[in-house]
Amino acid sequence: MANALKSPYAAKIVSIGTAVPPGLLTNNDLEKMVDTSDQWITERTGIKQRHMAEKGVATSDLAAEAAIQAIERAGLKPTDIELIIVATITPDMILPATACLVQDKIGATGAWGFDISIACSGFLYALQVATQFVTTGAHKNVLVIGLDVMSSIIDYTDRTTCIIFGDGGGAVVVQRTEDGAPVGMIDYLYEVDGSGGPALCLPGGGSRNPTSKDTLEKRMHFVHQDGQVVFKFATRKMSDLCLKLLERNGLTGKDVDLFVPHQANLRIISYSAERVGIEMDKVVVNIDEFGNTTAGTLPLALQSARSDGRLKEGSLVLLASVGAGFSAGAALMRWSY
Ligand code: COA
Repeated sequence: MANALKSPYAAKIVSIGTAVPPGLLTNNDLEKMVDTSDQWITERTGIKQRHMAEKGVATSDLAAEAAIQAIERAGLKPTDIELIIVATITPDMILPATACLVQDKIGATGAWGFDISIACSGFLYALQVATQFVTTGAHKNVLVIGLDVMSSIIDYTDRTTCIIFGDGGGAVVVQRTEDGAPVGMIDYLYEVDGSGGPALCLPGGGSRNPTSKDTLEKRMHFVHQDGQVVFKFATRKMSDLCLKLLERNGLTGKDVDLFVPHQANLRIISYSAERVGIEMDKVVVNIDEFGNTTAGTLPLALQSARSDGRLKEGSLVLLASVGAGFSAGAALMRWSY
């Protein structure tokens, strides 16, 4: 689905907050847990370490921390937030929604909210949903959170998945502008392809296979992945969507000031950047530090780019995601602060 936005309002990001747990799991740690090596992980994925939540730390704890930081940096109070959208596949529990838990934790007493469960595309899709609510004039301040505690659903005896994922993410405040400034979301192109579902899934615990002794014994409560199938889809789809989106806006990769891709694998990122025609010095890469935090990668990447001075007011930013579903997306944004 795709839609160029036409509205008297713009929806701009006015702040970012992030939260990662302090604990680290390095490649050297993983060498002691499964049959792998630092060299293999580094060469095949670009990852050196991931942050790991302590037992008892849940998504809403980190989400609330990121949210408070984002709200403060926007110069707002929690009571100014009208809507909270949490993108996560690791909710504290199946119900209530994590957005409700965050709303209570941060004291956003005027907000409603809900969760979005679309894995690695979660933050990008949530950003678009927020944009729709803001550009229709319905809301002025929307909090968008992308965060996962992936360690809660990863099998640390499975070397094909445990090397990839980490915990953490962030929050942004999406705000309505009424001054006609050409900022915020410009256009987006999102797609799902449900035929890819089996290649990346968590088969147990849902209505298809409710949790039982059998599902636990078969380790169905962990993420299962066919890495090569995901890899092929991701490399092709991420670059396809970026190229199509740029083309219909009369742009090429050379016009992009900053490419902020989902951090799934450094090889997917490099291939996509090259095919879209974006030099690597304009690509945000922090996968070495955080691994793949699923819905958390894009806010963490935006914050990395803010911290190193590459994300500036007026920058033309291309965001891209790909992940379970399959789901994928590309969005163009004029950065606003
Ligand atoms: N350490 C050492 N060897 C490993 C390994 C590990 N952690 N994981 C797999 N291997 C082995 C395989 O068993 C295989 O051995 P074989 O040749 O003897 O059969 C060999 O390495 C190559 O495996 P392959 O699956 O072809 O590796 P790959 O280059 O495709 O890399 C992934 C594996 C998972 C890193 C890669 O497929 C990938 O990143 N896929 C996308 C995953 C992703 O992005 N998921 C999140 C979606 S957003």
